[in-house]
Amino acid sequence: MGFYSIAIDGPSGAGKSTMARAVAAKLGCVYLDTGAIYRTVAYHMILMGISPKDRDGVNRLIDDVNIDIRFPGDGVQHMILNGFDVTDELRTPEMSRGASQVSAHPAVREVLLDLQRDMAKKNNVVMDGRDIGTVVLPDADVKIFLTADVKVRAKRRLAELQARGEKTTFAEVLADLEERDERDSTRAVAPLRCAPDAVRVDTSDCGIDESVRRILAVVEEKLAL
Ligand code: DC
Repeated sequence: MGFYSIAIDGPSGAGKSTMARAVAAKLGCVYLDTGAIYRTVAYHMILMGISPKDRDGVNRLIDDVNIDIRFPGDGVQHMILNGFDVTDELRTPEMSRGASQVSAHPAVREVLLDLQRDMAKKNNVVMDGRDIGTVVLPDADVKIFLTADVKVRAKRRLAELQARGEKTTFAEVLADLEERDERDSTRAVAPLRCAPDAVRVDTSDCGIDESVRRILAVVEEKLAL
């Protein structure tokens, strides 16, 4: 028997990781956060003094990036970069922006494709990202496109950042999300798009529990559980 795969795509701050985690917990499958892979690449570039925007610089270094993904059972997806666990360095505004910038370079996307597809070949997975249903796993059994109004997303992201002690404002978070939305949806390779066969779920007007319920209903119907 083959493995099933569930793709959850959508813009930054739509709640993809919360939904993906809930679905994976319910089904007992692997949850792969693909944004963390792009964040790890951005971290490497910044560490090496290369701007994530610098296409030539990034292309020169991309082959030095060795990424290992581990799930040691603490509920956290650990990102190992060239032997070092960099998980705790990845969720800052600088890495969010850097990940969006490196992810626009075709060579980066190409290198990361196999890593992502390999996970789906060997496991039942729910993966969240921007191009999972369109490019990485075009044959995914379930495709969800999760969206919410940008102001709602900014409010949620602000609360998340403040809870982690980051000093920022609503205006800053909103500008950052708008910039990422624009870059992620207009890049030439694998832009953020709703796959034609994806189910679009807008969570602007509903809380986490209701969103999870709606998504689980789609998953259960498609997987015929
Ligand atoms: O989901 P996230 O915020 O951690 O993703 C960070 C950036 O990585 C996002 O702005 C665009 C890029 N990304 C991508 O291009 N494709 C993916 N499948 C996942 C993330």
